[in-house]
Amino acid sequence: MSHIWSQLKLDPQSRLPLYKQISQQTEQMVHDGRLKPGVRLPSERKMAEMLQVSRMTITLAYEDMKAKGIVRSQQGSGTFVMRGPRMERSEQAVTWHTQFAYETGNINHAMEEIMRFGRDPKLIPLAGVGTAPEVHPGIELSQCFAEHLRRNPILLQLPTPTQGYEPLRYDLRKWLEADGIHAAPEELMVVSGAMQGLDLISRLFLGPGDYVIMEDPGLPAASDAFAASGAKILRITLDQQGIRTESLENLLMQFPVKFIYVNPTFHNPTGITMSPERRAHLLELAKKYGVPIVEDDPTGLLNYGKKPITPLKAMDQDDLVIYLRTFSKYVFPALRVAVLAAPEPIVTNLLKIKQRIDLHSNNLSQIAVHAFLLEGRLERHLDRLRKAYADRIKLAREVIQELPDIHCDFPEGGVFLWCKLPPQICAERLLQIAIQKGVAFVPGNWLSGVGLGDNCFRLAFTHPSLDMLKEGLKRIGEAIQEYKSKSFPL
Ligand SMILES: Cc1ncc(COP(=O)(O)O)c(C=O)c1O
Repeated sequence: MSHIWSQLKLDPQSRLPLYKQISQQTEQMVHDGRLKPGVRLPSERKMAEMLQVSRMTITLAYEDMKAKGIVRSQQGSGTFVMRGPRMERSEQAVTWHTQFAYETGNINHAMEEIMRFGRDPKLIPLAGVGTAPEVHPGIELSQCFAEHLRRNPILLQLPTPTQGYEPLRYDLRKWLEADGIHAAPEELMVVSGAMQGLDLISRLFLGPGDYVIMEDPGLPAASDAFAASGAKILRITLDQQGIRTESLENLLMQFPVKFIYVNPTFHNPTGITMSPERRAHLLELAKKYGVPIVEDDPTGLLNYGKKPITPLKAMDQDDLVIYLRTFSKYVFPALRVAVLAAPEPIVTNLLKIKQRIDLHSNNLSQIAVHAFLLEGRLERHLDRLRKAYADRIKLAREVIQELPDIHCDFPEGGVFLWCKLPPQICAERLLQIAIQKGVAFVPGNWLSGVGLGDNCFRLAFTHPSLDMLKEGLKRIGEAIQEYKSKSFPL
């Protein structure tokens, strides 16, 4: 039977972690019948020897397969292949993959993993962004939402336009005005999260072979949305001023780029804020080469101490910027509400696409957000968030100062800390030890398309309480010590 396991081909260069490669390939073998139900898997030790990977990699692979129901462990007797859902029929009539027009194999695993870490109660959540417990607005929002509906029960019966619930749009306009973004009513639409905005923009602008530019490292879900349209992604690294506009101009001279995607304020994952000079240069280049900019601004209002940062959209005199602002980080991500501001022809066409896939964004969420925008509630809540997150940054700075292997440039706002490790420490391998110690973060290589970030990781510091944040950082420090104390075969 051991020959069957030699069919597992692992690629250490792949961005897919080794444990995922093992899990996915085993699943494939189950589904195409090479592995029959009831077959016993080698012990973790034996499998690790056969594949020449660490025991921890195999533990993670087996856990992953158990979670998917592909295998089951029986106390004392081992791990067995289960009857997979697609094995129930004796012959599979349709090979589904050959019927699909869209290839999902390249979709980045990072978002799925980050959300999985966030749901795991055993892990201190430093991977994905959540709202600090002491300032979570759930109760306040549910009360004002219930009161709003009690006074206006008719709201739930009225059809909502694809562009968004009108009273919300009206208040969103005023809200954006306060930051210098002047959008006419027809230049604004509500979307189901910034992610839907990015997907709609990709569908409208990008086709196979088109070029799009983004920062590296950057949001993997954004590159997935762009790649889904068949576009080629050109990546530009950042310095302390933000995206390197010299490199940008080089690319703009060589490639017919459809748009430039940036997250200029408290960038995810590096926390870098693009300087005013860079912003001006970026807008100048966009104008010179006639290329629109997509400005993703999920955390720009979370500035700690310093004065607010002017969005690119507020500086844009030439209708070049498509602006996205989500409520995910300001209220909570479950709402799935964001606003998109762009020139009218863009909004009109995005609406046509949105109508086809999502008649309108969830009405309950839109009404809830609107109720929360009224009477200055959101502004008061943002003040509380700024205070709570400034306290967390302060604490993280104190703890990290005691951890000589972690180097961090502390941002002036936002929700992320970008941490650098000594070159010999691989953040993805460190994560495996950290998970055993009950803490999760995002390894830098999950966020880079050009191989940056192997010895970097992203910490989202907003979700845990102050005590848990301190404990999480302490455990990461312990994981680093353990990493250094062992040679780490992978
Ligand atoms: C830069 C950036 N854009 C978009 C998103 C996704 O936002 P939403 O929850 O509104 O889809 C995130 C979430 O972390 C983000 O950091």
